[in-house]
Amino acid sequence: MDNLLKSIFSSEEEELYVLDCLAYFMMFMALATFFTLLFENVPYGRYASSKYGFPVNVKLAWFIQELPAFCIPLGLVFWTSSAKSSQLANQLLLAMYFCHYVQRALIYPFLIRGGKSTPFASFALAFLFCLYNGYMQTRYLSHYADYPPDWVTHPCFITGSLLWLLGWITNVHSDHVLRNLRKPGETGYKIPRGGLFEYISGANFFGEIVEWAGFALAGFSIHSAAFALFTFVVLSSRAVSHHKWYLTKFEDYPKSRKALVPFVF
Ligand SMILES: NC(=O)c1ccc[n+]([C@@H]2O[C@H](COP(=O)([O-])OP(=O)(O)OC[C@H]3O[C@@H](n4cnc5c(N)ncnc54)[C@H](OP(=O)(O)O)[C@@H]3O)[C@@H](O)[C@H]2O)c1
Repeated sequence: MDNLLKSIFSSEEEELYVLDCLAYFMMFMALATFFTLLFENVPYGRYASSKYGFPVNVKLAWFIQELPAFCIPLGLVFWTSSAKSSQLANQLLLAMYFCHYVQRALIYPFLIRGGKSTPFASFALAFLFCLYNGYMQTRYLSHYADYPPDWVTHPCFITGSLLWLLGWITNVHSDHVLRNLRKPGETGYKIPRGGLFEYISGANFFGEIVEWAGFALAGFSIHSAAFALFTFVVLSSRAVSHHKWYLTKFEDYPKSRKALVPFVF
């Protein structure tokens, strides 16, 4: 894999420049996505529509689309010189990333119950995003990110890591709550109960937003910040849409429940 990277980039300076450009471009895409999502829902799940292409089986779609976020990083960390992956801070940040994507790519898809098929365009865009972001996060962390020796005891790293952990647990637990609303074979929707769903409609999204915001704080780079921003834009919009959808669908939907931030919004 080193040879492949050497054939693409003439120097390490050039690759680092490209990684920085990718991060700034992701921030720009987050902004563009924000404005698009003011008029349109992200078209999958309950908002899936045939105008975004033929339907792809939901388990297959989630497995294939998330796979590059796991496989490309695996190759970059284990089959390239990955000069910084012996540093503790880099190792811990890579562990956070892999912990999420082992669950998301290799476990989550096979647990889905009765999920709607994913339109091809949504599937293809998710696949490209995972490829792009997987390379950007893990190449930067494994080969370029240079932290001070005591970074792991810095308040930013400690606070960020704790937020990452709390967010990840909230996300996995909330997805588990949603999954268990359906008995095997069911495809309809019910009011989620328990955990953070008592306070917000988008508990799984809130968890994931906190998770990557924590990762960005601990990693302190434009690359991790761009991912956190993109996640925030997509998932906050989805939480608001789901909240409005629940209010119109269920007359007995809890009135005190907020969309994304407990007691606030
Ligand atoms: N980092 C990112 O940018 C990003 C982007 C997208 C998603 N994600 C993560 O991926 C995971 C899944 O996202 P998602 O958008 O698919 O979440 P979602 O819309 O909440 O749906 C999750 C699963 O639960 C089912 N479900 C949702 N609400 C339900 C209800 N009230 N009753 C019964 N079943 C219900 C859905 O079925 P249906 O398919 O039938 O609706 C789907 O299988 C989340 O953890 C999210 O944070 C991350």
